[in-house]
Amino acid sequence: MAKGQQGSSGQNTMERIVSLAKRRGFVFQSSEIYGGLNGCWDYGPLGVELKRNVKDAWYQGVVRERDDIVPLDCSILMNRAVWKASGHEDCFTDPMVDCRGCKRRYRADRIRMHYLVLDGQAVWHHSYEGEHAEGFVELSKRVRKSYDHALNEHKAQIESGAAAETDCVVSEAPDGFPRVCPECGGELTGARMFNLMFKTFVGPSEDSASMTYLRPETAQGIFANFLNVLNSSRIKVPFGIAQMGKSFRNEITPRNFTFRTREFEQMEIEFFCKPGTDDEWYHHWVAERKRWYAELGMRDENLRFREHTAEEMAHYARACTDVEYKFPFGWGELEGIANRTDFDLKAHAEHSGKDLSYFDDETKERYVPYVIEPSAGADRSVLAFFCDAYCEDEAPDEKGNPQPRTVLKFHPKLAPIKVAVFPLVRKDGMPEKARGIYDDVRRRMAAFYDEKGAVGRRYRRQDEAGTPFCVTVDGQTMADDTVTVRDRDSMTQERVPAAGVLDYLQNKLAL
Ligand code: GAP
Repeated sequence: MAKGQQGSSGQNTMERIVSLAKRRGFVFQSSEIYGGLNGCWDYGPLGVELKRNVKDAWYQGVVRERDDIVPLDCSILMNRAVWKASGHEDCFTDPMVDCRGCKRRYRADRIRMHYLVLDGQAVWHHSYEGEHAEGFVELSKRVRKSYDHALNEHKAQIESGAAAETDCVVSEAPDGFPRVCPECGGELTGARMFNLMFKTFVGPSEDSASMTYLRPETAQGIFANFLNVLNSSRIKVPFGIAQMGKSFRNEITPRNFTFRTREFEQMEIEFFCKPGTDDEWYHHWVAERKRWYAELGMRDENLRFREHTAEEMAHYARACTDVEYKFPFGWGELEGIANRTDFDLKAHAEHSGKDLSYFDDETKERYVPYVIEPSAGADRSVLAFFCDAYCEDEAPDEKGNPQPRTVLKFHPKLAPIKVAVFPLVRKDGMPEKARGIYDDVRRRMAAFYDEKGAVGRRYRRQDEAGTPFCVTVDGQTMADDTVTVRDRDSMTQERVPAAGVLDYLQNKLAL
């Protein structure tokens, strides 16, 4: 099976991905020994390396390889006035509904309904939670069957004209049809607005004067430091400020593993440009971000760039494109690329009383720059690269019989471990030789040494970790100083001089 192909329904695949992530130490539930904490996850040894590689690739692409972007690292706690000015204190809310039956809580705008409406009567409905109103074809086989059954039951009526199929299936409840609980079908309360920011207090007193919030995005720290960066780095518009770091949102319904969590990391750029050049820069960033995902091997068919409709767009935005990945649970946003105009700088100028305009020495013009914001989630990117790399195929066991294999076909840049080094057996000088090679390669790349268990089993453990190459020291090594190098994806083995193994790996990995 090719990279990313998944052998069964999305839900089963997701369950296997979550189980592999835990089993191999990529991601653990936060505070698991105490029953966990909803919406929070911990990265284990392999997960730390994977996430670091994703963040490094972002930093390399948007800061190191460009002349026009500088980095910033702001504190998570900021003056509450920042969140007043940005609009978060008053408007960073989600509509929340409760089920009167089972008491479950939902984000109102995530409840989707499908109806079969005949002559103004709902003769069938299905309620589910979803990020987007997807077409009926995306629904599970079970729901499709139930819908077909309902359609069949009313076929005679529809055909005889006694009942008109007025609106076969819609994604939103038509007027007059209530939305019901996806879990129990119970009645839902009306929507109430809920602010997603976590409150906290700075200093010993817990009063409104000492209250602030854990930042819900890294972006506002960039706007608040616009003047500092401009005056200290002598950089000129057009330029960008990049920041990655933790953000916190008290999500009503965290779900889908690490996709929607209450504590997560963002990778954000605020790119400041002259009004009038903003469309050009917006398209530049859409193209740049496409290139970044593609260069890290994300499969084209699992990635889409979806432009917002006018109704979806924030009131201050001129354009916005969501970068979406086809997870086993459906399409989900990885990144938003927005033209935010001069909204943020003007809002902070007004609230702080500071002049945040820019003077162009060459044209002698003064203006408030427009902002293009490519805002990505580090955890979501990690999850997307993990799902994209996940595949199941077959590998021969010690007797040459094909056995199911789980393998993570990560791009070499993202693989947590680049090479594993093994002695075939723990005798005849093989461990010493293998350790020597390991010590040599680990200075240049993330490497792993393993001498326990059958070599086939060691290969399979590395396949599950996504390690591109395994180097094995065997009997022949001791005679002619060559080793085998096994390729994770093709499972072929090549003999390479032990002295040239580092060059060989560096060439193949092209890090
Ligand atoms: N400054 C703009 C901003 O924060 P956003 O669409 O709210 O925009 C940007 O967030 C990115 O942050 C999202 O595309 C997503 O990757 C990530 N993100 C947002 N909320 C998240 C959550 N609850 N869990 C994980 N990642 C999240």
